Amino acid sequence: MSQNSYTLLPIDEEVEVSPGLFVERRSFMAVFGGMALTVVSNLNARAAIEESVDKKLSFEQFLSEANPLAQRLVGDISASGQDRYLRTVAALTAKLRGMPMPARWNNTGQGLKEEDYKIGVHPGGNPFTVLHWRLEPGAICRPHVHEYGNVVTVGLEGVVRVNNYISTGSFDYKNNGTFQVQKTVDQILSPGSVNLVSLDMVHSFQAGPDGARGLDITTRLKPKPEHSTPYLSIAKTALDENTSIYDASWAFSS
Ligand SMILES: [Fe+2]
Repeated sequence: MSQNSYTLLPIDEEVEVSPGLFVERRSFMAVFGGMALTVVSNLNARAAIEESVDKKLSFEQFLSEANPLAQRLVGDISASGQDRYLRTVAALTAKLRGMPMPARWNNTGQGLKEEDYKIGVHPGGNPFTVLHWRLEPGAICRPHVHEYGNVVTVGLEGVVRVNNYISTGSFDYKNNGTFQVQKTVDQILSPGSVNLVSLDMVHSFQAGPDGARGLDITTRLKPKPEHSTPYLSIAKTALDENTSIYDASWAFSS
């Protein structure tokens, strides 16, 4: 008798899994039954992922998914922790559809003209606040540092040019002279695209010819400082085009 033929068991207790190879039915059922369950469970997981990717969220549904995730991640304010937080919130905004208009629009005074730049607030974010902004055609939001919170900016309508800068060292708000900043992002933000600002980063906006509308999902990570918003005047021409280093000085708002 060949050692490869398992004749010790009755034939109905064996299964031929490949030509000439028999295994005990119980082992076959345990192994291949388990594999079948794994295949089914993988198919279910894939279907769940596809459903999740295709899922569209109303603003209320966005909040119900984003709030608990954000609450779990917000405690890590290291650079990588903020990056994870911002990317997680930003990924959910990609599913957002039918964003409502805010109950009222308020002048921010942050544009060059009073009516240029308006903001409304959507309640319900935790730990973040959802600000809805509207820029008139060509309107500007001046470059300013986010020194106590980070931001996910989401384009909803029109296009807006967004620039991000970082300090080449660390920001000294008592410096009355010139210092240097580095431009890290020059982006045309269109509907559905996002821009991320971590603590101590600068951003500025300039709306396209049709104006623009979008969201700033802002999260306070530190107490608000005593001084007013730290706006910057940034030179139009880089000191060094290769590294995008610019001269800058403070232009605090009142
Ligand atoms: Fe800002």
